[in-house]
Amino acid sequence: MESSSPMRLLLVLVLQLSVQLRAYTAPIEETFFRCLSVNSKLAIPLSSYYTPNNASSFTSLLDSTAQSLRYVGPKVPKPDIIFTPLGEPHVQAAVICSRRLNVHIRVRSGGHDYEAVSYVSQIETPFIVIDLVRLRGIDVDIPRKTAWVQAGATDGEVYYKIAERSKVHGFPMGVCTTIGIGGHITGGGIGSMMRKFGIAADNVLDARIVDSKGRILNRAAMGEDLFWAIRGGGGGSFGIILAWRIKLVNVPQTVTVFTVSKTLDQDGTKLLLRWQEVAPKLDDNLFLNVAIRPAPTGNGTSRTVTTTYRALFLGSRTHLLKVMEEGFPELGLTSQDCIETSWIESVLYMALFPNTTGLEVLRQVISSIPPGYFKAKADFVRVPIPESGLNGLWKLFLEEESPFMQWTPYGGMMERIFEDATPFPHRRGILFEIFYSTSWQKDEDPSKHMNWIKRLYNYMGPYVSSSPREAYVNYRDLDLGMNRNWKNATDYDLIEASAWGTKYFKRNFYKLLEVKSRVDPDNIFRHEQSIPPLLVKGQT
Ligand SMILES: Cc1cc2nc3c(=O)[nH]c(=O)nc-3n(C[C@H](O)[C@H](O)[C@H](O)COP(=O)(O)OP(=O)(O)OC[C@H]3O[C@@H](n4cnc5c(N)ncnc54)[C@H](O)[C@@H]3O)c2cc1C
Ligand SMILES: *[C@@H]1O[C@H](CO)[C@@H](O)[C@H](O)[C@H]1NC(C)=O
Ligand SMILES: *[C@@H]1O[C@H](CO)[C@@H](O)[C@H](O)[C@H]1NC(C)=O
Ligand SMILES: *[C@@H]1O[C@H](CO)[C@@H](O)[C@H](O)[C@H]1NC(C)=O
Ligand SMILES: *[C@@H]1O[C@H](CO)[C@@H](O)[C@H](O)[C@H]1NC(C)=O
Repeated sequence: MESSSPMRLLLVLVLQLSVQLRAYTAPIEETFFRCLSVNSKLAIPLSSYYTPNNASSFTSLLDSTAQSLRYVGPKVPKPDIIFTPLGEPHVQAAVICSRRLNVHIRVRSGGHDYEAVSYVSQIETPFIVIDLVRLRGIDVDIPRKTAWVQAGATDGEVYYKIAERSKVHGFPMGVCTTIGIGGHITGGGIGSMMRKFGIAADNVLDARIVDSKGRILNRAAMGEDLFWAIRGGGGGSFGIILAWRIKLVNVPQTVTVFTVSKTLDQDGTKLLLRWQEVAPKLDDNLFLNVAIRPAPTGNGTSRTVTTTYRALFLGSRTHLLKVMEEGFPELGLTSQDCIETSWIESVLYMALFPNTTGLEVLRQVISSIPPGYFKAKADFVRVPIPESGLNGLWKLFLEEESPFMQWTPYGGMMERIFEDATPFPHRRGILFEIFYSTSWQKDEDPSKHMNWIKRLYNYMGPYVSSSPREAYVNYRDLDLGMNRNWKNATDYDLIEASAWGTKYFKRNFYKLLEVKSRVDPDNIFRHEQSIPPLLVKGQT
């Protein structure tokens, strides 16, 4: 035994050392920063790295994009780090380090997610937010009719940059001008020109993404299946979009807009019955949506419902009046209702900015809709809702303090694109989409309002699409279900995921599962409603 004592001493030393090593685990802030520095071809400045130690700048950056204030405040789970990459190698390093250190990352572009999954994790801590706010370059090429746009840019900035170069080019995407194109296009992207040109995802030519191994891939390198999946399959599942190459569309020098409101006393219900029939069939150049709100009655003693028809027509006033006279004379549109303007001014109009607002608002990333406490849901309608259905809807609608609905017409180009051309499946046969929301004040009990919108959603069941009841992934709704058990997903979890997955994507969900399993089998890119891989590591 004596002779082995030097060995024993060594063994004891080694054991003690390893115990010490295990006892000292550096905080994630340190290890992640070190890992980034080692794995990035571009130096990582401390000014791109925010931890709770940078208290006020950390909180103001984290909350800067919040739309739904339900996801702000001390009770909401916070990331340990926010990293704002300054170049593509930074994004690659973030993915590599997420894998190496086995730490969860979330990706944020514009931060408009309705359930905040880009910066709040309800299923896993710690987590790190990779915020692309500083990757917002836009390079417009008018002769080629294309643009490369980095993911952190907003749709408003893209509109502005295109219009700066040409008055007769545009791009079909969202109406609100502060949406990040990283999340927006990968979820589809609907807007005022969809009946003419389809959605944003239909008009993408190429993309640069960082995949789950930290490689940068363009369309040719990623292959057509993955390129298909990122054009409508929802953000945060397949990789980090660095930039999109978009195909610009032609817009006329002069477009026409109008707004006409009708209350129920002014035959609002009859008009809306008619709108359901005609709006999806009107000239492709005409987009005529309806915003529905409560309003005081004429005598001021009770509330009624007001339906506000707002339109963008890609053509002149004279032409528009003819189209409306043929297709929807019941609205009684007059020449005085119509405003001829440029396409870029129509963007501000449709986004509800006051008509005195300058175009600069688009570059300053200022929203016409201030953040607030709200909950939203969506439905798709394939058969017009009958009068009895509308009357019941008005009754329920007026039970709530600040309810809102937006009815968006489909048809036109949307009708001519196949359901499986992209993961966004809401095409042929969709008459219109309904967006529902309710909002409330800070100190109110949210459950009352959350319950109201659930009752409304139940009421609408018989009148909207079914088997599946379709939903839009960009109007994310965690009531439809969520991933809870990602480390140890069972067949049961997959069945649960297919409940919300088929609502968002119909049969395309199954192809998304396949693509996900191939490109990210370890589920590096995950959140409450990310596409799960068919086999998660650790599953037996
Ligand atoms: C006020 C308001 C108005 C809206 N109006 C419209 C509209 O007119 N039309 C419409 O279609 N939608 C509209 N939306 C919905 C909007 O399209 C979605 O919320 C969209 O996902 C927002 O993208 P984002 O980058 O701003 O959001 P984020 O919250 O940053 O991201 C949304 C999702 O995409 C993921 N993601 C973000 N960036 C990337 C990236 N670079 N690569 C991969 N995944 C990423 C996130 O992880 C998250 O899962 C509106 C939303 C709001 C709040
Ligand atoms: C955070 O704090 C550290 C240490 O005080 C500082 O070096 C760094 O620049 C700060 N980061 C930001 C983004 O302000
Ligand atoms: C006020 O108008 C509403 C709807 O127009 C009507 O139902 C109600 O009876 C009116 N109230 C009074 C006091 O006139
Ligand atoms: C803005 O709208 C008001 C009222 O509708 C109108 O009188 C005014 O001329 C408009 N201003 C501009 C700059 O279009
Ligand atoms: C995985 O799930 C099964 C069944 O729910 C459970 O028995 C098991 O303990 C889980 N394993 C881990 C590592 O969580």
